[in-house]
Amino acid sequence: MSAARPNQAAAPGGPVDPEALVASAEERVARADTLAGLEKIEAELLGKRSELTRAHRTLGALEPGERPRAGERLDRARGRIEELVADRRLRLSELERAARLEADRLDLTEVTAPRLRGHLNLVERTRDELEDVFVGMGLVVAEGPEVETDWYNFEALHMPPAHPARGMWDTLYLDLGEPETVVLRTHTSPVQIRLMQSQGPPIYAVMPGTCYRRDTPDARHIPTFHQIEGLVVDHGISFADLAGTIETFTTSYFGPDIHSRLRPSYFPFTEPSAEFEITCTICKGKGCRTCSHTGWVELGGAGMVDPAVFEAVGVDAEEWTGFAFGFGIDRCAQMRHEIPDMRILLENDARFLRQI
Ligand code: FA5
Repeated sequence: MSAARPNQAAAPGGPVDPEALVASAEERVARADTLAGLEKIEAELLGKRSELTRAHRTLGALEPGERPRAGERLDRARGRIEELVADRRLRLSELERAARLEADRLDLTEVTAPRLRGHLNLVERTRDELEDVFVGMGLVVAEGPEVETDWYNFEALHMPPAHPARGMWDTLYLDLGEPETVVLRTHTSPVQIRLMQSQGPPIYAVMPGTCYRRDTPDARHIPTFHQIEGLVVDHGISFADLAGTIETFTTSYFGPDIHSRLRPSYFPFTEPSAEFEITCTICKGKGCRTCSHTGWVELGGAGMVDPAVFEAVGVDAEEWTGFAFGFGIDRCAQMRHEIPDMRILLENDARFLRQI
């Protein structure tokens, strides 16, 4: 924008020279480089306080014979200046529009850095996939709290205080209430109890969630891990239903090439009980550090619901039978993605997280 210049069209006290006003205006208008700047100059040249308007007002002081010619010269000058401003306005509008278009232009050939997108953590994804498999088999998904009372985590599951089976889980107790009455749940089995309390049979449900144990981390164990519990209670449910469900699950989730087996085992809340194992996917059954050189990896426990559990929640064991299972979600992810050491799931190593 041009700076305001002293008016050279009239000497102080002297008459206004309209042609000199036009010459000075030409120069100032040509220098205006924005529409806003031009507007300001226009006000100075043609507005109420402009030299031109003031000269109009003094026409009356002239000799009557001189007035028409002086008035005509002033009108011509005003007309010319208005023209100059209009032309410049048009030009500046074009320039500003062109600059806007240039700034908004999309360069479709430009190569930009790829955008990094996050994705679900592997364990979260595995939980979703496992849920999908079971929902496909007609089960519904339920959840329960991670902080449990001793009653839900142990007692209702047929493990009264001092029961030796409590030693199967290295429990983390919370400093709440009476000593050793509130725990970080060691498994998802207490959700079985909550579900049977809140709704009677028939029940067809899976219950995924986080569990906590004072386990020393190793290739197959971490202290904060995840399980998916299953509970089916109905008339006439048998061990064959449990075996069939586990087999269908194994084929759906791991594919037909993975072999599984049920080994007799012991859990206080199921009778009979079994451990569910699959061929170690790291060594394909030959034996390695991950499977402790056995060729098999345990994914979970299972069995027929013990009548003592039904009794604790008021379900008639004469009428109903059921099976339950609890699989390790992290273990399933480990075997499916052939991860030799589970501890990497907790390390937040971006090189690992990006791969999966
Ligand atoms: C139980 O927790 C029983 N509640 C399972 C069950 C449910 C049995 C219903 C019968 C009926 P167990 O302690 O074996 O069982 O754990 C089950 C699975 O959880 C293990 O096979 C393993 O896959 C996983 N798991 C257990 N501890 C850990 C750990 N520290 N880190 C990672 N996964 C673990």
